[in-house]
Order: sequence, then structure tokens, then C-alpha cells
Amino acid sequence: MSHIPHRSHWNSRWTFMLATAGSAIGLGNIWKLPYMIGVNGGSAFVLVFVISIFLVGIPLMMTEILLGRRAQKNPLDGIQTLAIEAKKSSLWRYLGGMGMLTGLLILGFYSVIGGWVLAYISEAVSGSFSQITAQQSTANFDALLASPFKLLFWHTVFMLMTMSVVAHGVNSGLEKANNILIPALFAILLVLLGYSMSEGDMQTAFQFMFKPDFSKITPVSVLSALGHAFFSLSLGMGAVMVYGSYLQRNVSIARTTIYIALADTLLGLLVGLAIYSLVFANHLAPNAGPGLIFQTLPIAFGHMPGGNIIGVLFFLLVAFAAWTSSISLVEPTIAWIVENTKIKRHAAALILGVAVWLLGVAVALSFNEWKDIKIVFNLNIFETLDKLTSTVLLPLGGLLMAIFAGYFMNKNHVQEELNLNDQAFKLWRIANNYIAPIAIAAVFLYLFGLIK
Ligand code: PFF
Repeated sequence: MSHIPHRSHWNSRWTFMLATAGSAIGLGNIWKLPYMIGVNGGSAFVLVFVISIFLVGIPLMMTEILLGRRAQKNPLDGIQTLAIEAKKSSLWRYLGGMGMLTGLLILGFYSVIGGWVLAYISEAVSGSFSQITAQQSTANFDALLASPFKLLFWHTVFMLMTMSVVAHGVNSGLEKANNILIPALFAILLVLLGYSMSEGDMQTAFQFMFKPDFSKITPVSVLSALGHAFFSLSLGMGAVMVYGSYLQRNVSIARTTIYIALADTLLGLLVGLAIYSLVFANHLAPNAGPGLIFQTLPIAFGHMPGGNIIGVLFFLLVAFAAWTSSISLVEPTIAWIVENTKIKRHAAALILGVAVWLLGVAVALSFNEWKDIKIVFNLNIFETLDKLTSTVLLPLGGLLMAIFAGYFMNKNHVQEELNLNDQAFKLWRIANNYIAPIAIAAVFLYLFGLIK
């Protein structure tokens, strides 16, 4: 990536799709979506989440890719270039800057959770899930959280994995592994679903997730679901934009986006079904929070035939999925540093790696020693970073990108990038110019108490 001005590009549409799907599919689908569903009242959350993906997520993913491909630069310089091209204020560049910062803040906790997954690979390898009970599994997870040493160790390993790839450039070949590993993740999920169907309580899980119960929809759950649509599709911070900037001109943005969004959403919902079948069959609490998958899945692996191996494979694949996402969280900032300073990719990766690692140390401690340190609204360090990024910064980033592409860029330039037929272009414009901004702004205004 560093051979500026000749930017390298993905080898094919397929590689771009895999890399972007690799960014989208990650802990957001496997770890976060399942527990968010439980915390936010089940089906109500699922419904708003799916609607958000279709009405806001898909159009805005197209927007982000088109911004990146037109600009051919990192998000900060890219938006500035587009603003200048459209003869608008170059202050817009701070939108790119905000996105870059958001990515680093997310990585601060993403890496700690990625560390939990690594810790669970080692648990699975040691055979400790065998015949495990629900109580033992919960106690196991609590023991991990209570150990600052373990959390810091695995967080450090995860950061090293992320930064070593980023140091070489995202075109280093890792995305090719996605070719096998994303389908493998789906396959292993089907095994898990099969098990949940025969041993779990799939019927209750299905009702919990899909039987509409509008009474449970609250303003906070709507914002959380909308925010999670951004998080899950990696939108609102420039990750998709920077990947789009490495995309060749002749690739259809719309089609690629739809495939990625469908795969991402389907995967998350399937994980949710598998988890809740186990939750209900084992009388666990659906609203257990961030530990949910770590408490429930070992029970399945501990009892299914071949569960030892399947458990190891599952956590390995999740770690891989988390890895390809975490890379995209730093790539926008790295691209900016490399394209603007004399600092080399390796050094930039080292500097950012240390900074984010330190943030992660604070996050790891917020699960034990620093549990009682509250930052805002009674939220600890982890919760503050999570809420700030998912429910404020990502939707805000998306809102501003939609406004920029819809109202500040030249319409012909936009159409040139999207290359849609008239009808499809009209649809995209309605979603980008009206539906998405109004939906996001309405949720914000409601929460600030400005509309009732
Ligand atoms: N989409 C990733 C996931 O679902 O795990 C997380 C993520 C990656 C969010 C990159 C934002 C981002 F820019």
C-alpha cells in the first residue's frame, strides 16, 4: 500500500469483497450481536437491526466505497480532495480524522475481546470444556475476567498479531485466507446449529429472536440496534472507505455491497440462534452481557461428539475473523501517516500499536481492578468506549458521510462511481439523502430530548 503515488489495488473484485467481508465479519457478529439481542429485549432489537441494515447500512456502505474509490486516498485527505473537487470547504477533512480516531478507540477494546477468544482457543485445546456444566462454564469465564495477567497477556498477543499484518500492508495476502476461512466459519456454524437444533431449545430461541414484540422497543434499543448495524458492517469510520480506495474502477459497488451485507447479517443471526437455543435449554440468562458466548458455547462443545476438535476450530475461526476486522480498524490511520509523513509503515504500526495497546490495558483492567472506575453515565472504561463509538461516533460519521456525498458532491461524479441505472440510482439517493440522515438524526434528537 505504501507505494504512493502509484497506489496498489486489490488483485480482483473477489479480493476486495473478501477483504471487506473480512472487515465486516468479526466479533461484532459472533460476540456482540448475540448479547446485544439479549440485553435489548430479543426480537424488537433484531427487527430494528435488520431494518437498519437494509435501509441505512447497505446504502451507506455504497456511499463509503464510492467516496474511497473516487478519492483514492486515506479518509482524511480523501474527503478533503473530494471537497476541493466539489469546491466545498476543506474542513470536511475532519470527518475523515474523526473516523480514524474512532477506529483506534474501537481497537482499544476489540483487542481485549480478541484476547478472550485467544484464551478460549487455549482452553479448548486443553480439553477443559469436556462435560462442563453451565455453572462451571460461567465460573471459568469469571475467572478469566478476574485475572488481569491473563487478560493483558492475550490482549498483547492479539495486538501483536494485528500490528504485524498492518506493518506489511493489507495487501499482504491475509485477505486471501478469507477465501477459505469465511466459508469454514459458516460451515462450523452449521454444525453448531445442528447441535443446537437437536439438543438445545431452538423453538424458544426462534420466538425470542423473531416473534415481533413491539412493546419492547425503546429509544435506547433503537439507537443500539442502529449503532450495531454500523459496527457490524464496519461503517462510519473510513475502514470501508480506505478499502474502497484500493478497488479497481470496473467493479460494481452495489452488487458487492449487497453480498457483503447479506453474508454479515446472516452470520450474526445464525450465531444468535445457536446461542439462544443453548441459553434456554440450560436455563441461562439471555441478558448475561458481554460474556454470553463464552459462557454458553463451551457447554455445547463439551457435550457434542467431536466437540473437542470442533471447539478448537470454532474459536480459531473466530480469532481469525476478529483479526481481519482489527486490521481494518487501524488501516485508515496507517494509510494517512504513510501518505503524509516520512514515517514508514513499520514504524507507524509500532507507534499506533503501543498507543492502542495502552488503551487496551485500561480496558482489560476495567473488568477487574478498575471495575468501579466510572467515566460517564455510570459506565466503566470498556462500556464508555463501546457506547461512545457504536452509538455516537459511528452513526455520526455515517450521517456526515451521507450528507457529504448527497448534498456536497457533484451528482454526476457520484453516479459515475456508482454506475447504476437510473432507477437504482434514484433509490440509492432516496436512501442516502433522506432515509439514512433522517433516521440517524431523529434517533439522536430523540435521545437528547429535543423531539418527543
Ligand atoms: N465489523 C467488525 C465486526 O463486526 O466485528 C468491527 C469493525 C471493524 C467495526 C472495522 C468498524 C470497523 F471500521
